[in-house]
Amino acid sequence: MSHKILILDGDGIGPEIIAEAETTLAVLASEFGLAAEIEHAPIGGAALDAAGQPLPEATLALAMAADAVLFGAIGGPKWDAMPRELRPERGLLALRAGMGVFANLRPVQVFPELVSASTLKSEVVSGLDILIVRELIGGIYFGQPRALERGRDGRRFGMNTLRYAEDEVRRIARVAFATARARDRRLCSVDKANVLETSELWRQVVTETAGEFPDVRLEHMYVDNAAMQLVRKPKQFDVIVTDNMFGDILSDLASMLSGSIGMLPSASLDDKRRGLYEPIHGSAPDIAGRNVANPLAAILALAMLLRHSLNEERCAVRVEQAVRTALQLGLRTADISSAGTTSVGTREMGDAVAAALRQAAVSAGDGATGRA
Ligand code: IPM
Ligand code: MG
Repeated sequence: MSHKILILDGDGIGPEIIAEAETTLAVLASEFGLAAEIEHAPIGGAALDAAGQPLPEATLALAMAADAVLFGAIGGPKWDAMPRELRPERGLLALRAGMGVFANLRPVQVFPELVSASTLKSEVVSGLDILIVRELIGGIYFGQPRALERGRDGRRFGMNTLRYAEDEVRRIARVAFATARARDRRLCSVDKANVLETSELWRQVVTETAGEFPDVRLEHMYVDNAAMQLVRKPKQFDVIVTDNMFGDILSDLASMLSGSIGMLPSASLDDKRRGLYEPIHGSAPDIAGRNVANPLAAILALAMLLRHSLNEERCAVRVEQAVRTALQLGLRTADISSAGTTSVGTREMGDAVAAALRQAAVSAGDGATGRA
């Protein structure tokens, strides 16, 4: 059966990095028999230009009909002056909410080849393997009321609402416990329960949910401390579960442990494992179109897509190994370059991954007719 994949290039470096993920997909199809039908649709600034909306209805409908969605990046200075409801970022938030992908998995792993690319000491980060589970469609990103207005007294004010219902906390907690169970069975729940009622509820519900997972060791940590611990001693963590905004901030912070935000993919899943897959980095408008962006986060996002939504574990592993091979050859995009390595552009890095995959197909001897 053929898998249906919807590809949303988006803005900035989105189209360039996604093109390399598509090259990877094409090699999986030709060399390993992966059967996938691909469609493209506009989102973000590109969709604003084409259709006047950051998430056209047709794009959401295609996303709902697909087995998985691969997304590039969104936003850019061109659309910064748009009214807030029409900002490109709203398109991504509406897509996440529309697809119901509440569970955002953000793995942070350090490739041995990139230990020296981290700004932290190698002994602090080498061998690191943590997973941030971020609640993605609730909390302050979506809470109502929200406003940027002028009050009766003439002063402008901004307002957002942080609100979680217990079932929203329970479902993300269950995903986090289940994921921890398949790893080192340690879960750290991050909140601000010393100040926020929402966090008090979060902590209560996570603690209750722990009863369903007696084999997973649970600890709680305040978010300010968690930020400090992530740079002080990151290997103390296995799985971290946290709310939408804390997860946004901590995952950028944690990305630097791996050397570059350009390396990190993410998966956002609904309760049936249908998913939206994206690099965690943004659209980087300053380097867009210059063939310098790192395509590896997008390619690794494709690997997560193969694993989590298409059940193509072998293909996922092949892609991850091919990325590893490209790094072992010493190839580096600008964000991860260091002395003694070879600087390459976006396309060359994508081609190197494709070549490594082809090479793997030849050595495995399962060529064009082999099945994944
Ligand atoms: C992320 C991004 C998004 C977010 C933006 C682009 C809306 O920063 O995926 O982490 O805040 O969720
Ligand atoms: Mg972010």
